[in-house]
Amino acid sequence: MTGRWWQDAVFYQVYPRSFADSNGDGIGDLRGLIGRLDYLSTLGVDAIWLSPFFPSPKKDWGYDVADYRGVDADYGSLVDAQALVASAHDRGIRVILDLVVNHSSDEHPWFKAGSASKDAPEHDYYIWKPLEGKRPNNWVCLFEQGSAWFPNPPTGERYLGTFTRFQPEFNWREGRLRAEIYGVMRHWLDLGFDGFRLDVATAYIKDELFRSNPFSLNIVPDLLQRHVYDRNRPEVHEIFREMRALTGDERVLVGETYGPDPALAAACYGRGDELHLAFDFELLDAKWSAGAFRSAVERWYAALPEGAWPVITLSNHDRPRHAWRYRGRSVRETEERAKVAAACLLTLRGTPFLYYGEEIAMGCRRIPRARLRDPLGIKTWPLGFLGRDPERTPMQWSSKPGAGFSSRVGAASGDDRSGIGSTGVPEPWLPLNPDWRDRNVEVQLRDSASVLSRYRELTALRRAHAALRQGDIRFLDGGRDLLVFERRTSDEVLLVALNFASRSRAFDLDRQATILLGDSDRPARVGPGSVGLRSLETMVLKLS
Ligand code: GLC
Ligand code: CA
Repeated sequence: MTGRWWQDAVFYQVYPRSFADSNGDGIGDLRGLIGRLDYLSTLGVDAIWLSPFFPSPKKDWGYDVADYRGVDADYGSLVDAQALVASAHDRGIRVILDLVVNHSSDEHPWFKAGSASKDAPEHDYYIWKPLEGKRPNNWVCLFEQGSAWFPNPPTGERYLGTFTRFQPEFNWREGRLRAEIYGVMRHWLDLGFDGFRLDVATAYIKDELFRSNPFSLNIVPDLLQRHVYDRNRPEVHEIFREMRALTGDERVLVGETYGPDPALAAACYGRGDELHLAFDFELLDAKWSAGAFRSAVERWYAALPEGAWPVITLSNHDRPRHAWRYRGRSVRETEERAKVAAACLLTLRGTPFLYYGEEIAMGCRRIPRARLRDPLGIKTWPLGFLGRDPERTPMQWSSKPGAGFSSRVGAASGDDRSGIGSTGVPEPWLPLNPDWRDRNVEVQLRDSASVLSRYRELTALRRAHAALRQGDIRFLDGGRDLLVFERRTSDEVLLVALNFASRSRAFDLDRQATILLGDSDRPARVGPGSVGLRSLETMVLKLS
């Protein structure tokens, strides 16, 4: 029995601006992505989550939408978007879009009209408070680190923006706004897209009384507040139910459901009538240890309501890449850790979401001040934070100039500060990581021991064994360094053993087992008795 497609699928997040540039302007685009679908197919990807491609002034790189029904000229056209869906579907790959509807851009026609006059019908699409007197509460603007209330002199009011001032927040209590957004969703579903990732889903509805948030010790990302009044309000679940009624079960809704407690994300599944999938962020904060991974995942599983299907992810466009978070003392150690992390993603119970470039263990590095693009990075640069640009650098495809990302770029050394290469041709919109000549898809495809080859082995194994997709999970005691768990269906039992330590470790096996994945010089079978795992080794066994 296989589950619904989104339970079996391996998802892959594409940040379109950084994935593949087809026309040499240094900016990734939809035609570029279409050209790489065969690659994604051989990687074993079943579905793509595409970060926003909608027309946008790009104050937050597309997470500020000025037209929900179009395609930004940087990325192509609506025709290209349709070609993308068709070409992906030809290969059995589904495509979901990033729906950014907690806020629009301040350049969206609705906000332009609504901020010009209180009488405009669109005025009610946004949240307003009088300009006179004190600010309504202590809510903060996360990327600007000041008050979230911004003046709008033409109407004598303030509007709300908890990300930047360029992202005014919608009033989801207004029925006409809801109808507009559901119309947008239908537009893309009618074009054949397979669902949505819901940007900051838990923030749609604000407290009716606009109460101030209480104090919290968390600085990043919560800015010393517990976001109980500007996020995670109970009324948001009604919206999720309306959205679910619209998509049914053939199309998927996956929520960015950030919260300090996994229970908040878990609540977004409702009674099987809200989101199909929700992101838990505990694993993104887990330290490199088998124990930390196990407890993060167990907390997440325990929080989920009956029948809810987990999501497993380690990286996205907002967090430092996990190969960098888990970097070792050498490139080799970093890569071996990346393989263990890949095995977690692809064998734990839940739908894996990969982030472009993690399959070659792309890292992060500090980007020169003059080349920063992320508003959060620019704001926090003096404080020593990396911002979010380091995890958004161009995909490293080959050792050719431009790393195969772009057909026609300048020096592409990644070190240029001006953004104009030595030949006068634009550099990629963000500099390449300095290791692109050695770390790229072309190099790793040729190497059967590469991180990329491991991802391919793991996705193939997942396809071949229903237990890895649908099976129950049971953790065994592996001590501090080993993560050991069983995946079981009525037909087979697989055992996954992952050594997080850079030295050998052993565990006991009470039966004989066939090695499905392990170091290449292993015999075909092991056990019963003590089974040794080498430094950072992954073993997947089929128990007899
Ligand atoms: C989400 C996105 C992030 C964006 C923010 C505001 O957290 O993942 O990239 O900046 O929402 O839309
Ligand atoms: Ca381009």
